[in-house]
Amino acid sequence: MLYVGIDLGTSAVKLLLMNEKGEIQKIVSKEYPLYFPHPGWSEQNPEDWYEQSLAGLKELLADCDKSQVAGISFGGQMHGLVILDDKDQVIRPAILWNDGRTTEETDYLNQVIGKEKLSAYTANIAFAGFTAPKILWVKNKEPENFAKIKKIMLPKDYLAYRLTGAFCTDVSDASGMLLFDVKNRCWSKEMMEICSVKEEQLAKIYESYEAVGCVKPEIAKELGISDHVKVAAGAGDNAAAAVGTGTVGDGMCNLSLGTSGTLFISSDKFGVDKNNALHSFAHADGHYHLMGCMLSAASCNKWWMDEIIGTGDYSGEQAKIQKLGENHVFFLPYLMGERSPHNDPAARGTFIGMTMDTTRTDMTQAVLEGVAFALRDSFEVAKSLGIKIERTKICGGGAKSPLWKKMIANIFGIKVDVIESEEGPAMGGAMLAAVACGEYPDVVAAAKSIVKVVDTVEPDPELVEKYNARYEQFRKIYPTVKALFPQIS
Ligand code: XUL
Repeated sequence: MLYVGIDLGTSAVKLLLMNEKGEIQKIVSKEYPLYFPHPGWSEQNPEDWYEQSLAGLKELLADCDKSQVAGISFGGQMHGLVILDDKDQVIRPAILWNDGRTTEETDYLNQVIGKEKLSAYTANIAFAGFTAPKILWVKNKEPENFAKIKKIMLPKDYLAYRLTGAFCTDVSDASGMLLFDVKNRCWSKEMMEICSVKEEQLAKIYESYEAVGCVKPEIAKELGISDHVKVAAGAGDNAAAAVGTGTVGDGMCNLSLGTSGTLFISSDKFGVDKNNALHSFAHADGHYHLMGCMLSAASCNKWWMDEIIGTGDYSGEQAKIQKLGENHVFFLPYLMGERSPHNDPAARGTFIGMTMDTTRTDMTQAVLEGVAFALRDSFEVAKSLGIKIERTKICGGGAKSPLWKKMIANIFGIKVDVIESEEGPAMGGAMLAAVACGEYPDVVAAAKSIVKVVDTVEPDPELVEKYNARYEQFRKIYPTVKALFPQIS
């Protein structure tokens, strides 16, 4: 049988076709625009997601035996607010996970309602990119739109709705809304009241590997597949990526170097970081996870290469980097503000330490290292909770770079396991579809059978020591310049 994973990303939708053994048959990617209507705002048009996903599905399935297609599922960019009116029309562009407009609403939630209550209701506090502050923003700033809201959805759930007609979400993605009681895997009545939201405006909740329905007959016909093809709820892209890299069960770690950068630690038991610097979310394997998320990761490198030095030769630029652990330039990768662990939408990108002999290569190196150092900030929080991590998987566009993997191994001082495919969320989506169709008894069994480690990058003790010293310097920069950001942005 064949299974489709749809990774609804921020720059593109990636579609992956795999067979029942988990062998990838084809991958298709379709881009769509990302709008920044004001500095720090970030929006997309849900219709673009749907159109490009449908076009991608047609291309993906073009030359396979369509009668073999059994299931479809998703990994989706998290936290985005999609609102529909009573005619199922999208009311305004989706407000995305890396949008920083909700400072007032986030402060209201954290300071007036209070972090303790939020954490008791949802296991998390408010971050600017989470969905609940965005709902409050629409209520405060666009009351005419707020009054029209019939359905509130997350990005991938909009795709499921268009494909099946089911108004559904899954536990992992719902966790990032700040409307969800993560421990008990249900909507929080208290949070609904705080946000003036009624339960009928929220989707029905499923485990990520559960089927929510079948592809609508007219769409199945257009795609040439059966209208018995099952659609599974899927997961937020990080939980889906964790499935795709085999980061399931207890105490496993995955790093994702995509537009965002995340540290993801799976856990059999529910747990909360006492300072809520790490998110405590439900996992797609039926259990839980902790996660730190930085808003700009591989996107910093893309910005540096494409916009600033103007080259598409990423590997050529990286080949010039020779002196690891000795760079005198530092980069704070906060181009869209920062989430974990600083929770500061006003933070901005910063280079520091340049001299007359600084080269373009030093700056490129600083960008790659800055992302790894900032991810280590979340890793340090996990360590302070007593979590012991000795190795990690890695996925996302940045994971294609051998140099970046080496930096991560040495900056974190842990082994980095490289798996056969870096297609985390799309692969995870396809695996969730396979579980929903009964191909595997559960997500852990699917991961065990499908995910293969092909290489391990070992940390080098000398380099680890050098990088530890550099990291101690890095971690002093943000607290020193923090007060400046609101004044200059
Ligand atoms: C996670 C987060 C990002 C997006 C990226 O909390 O905001 O990783 O899911 O698509």
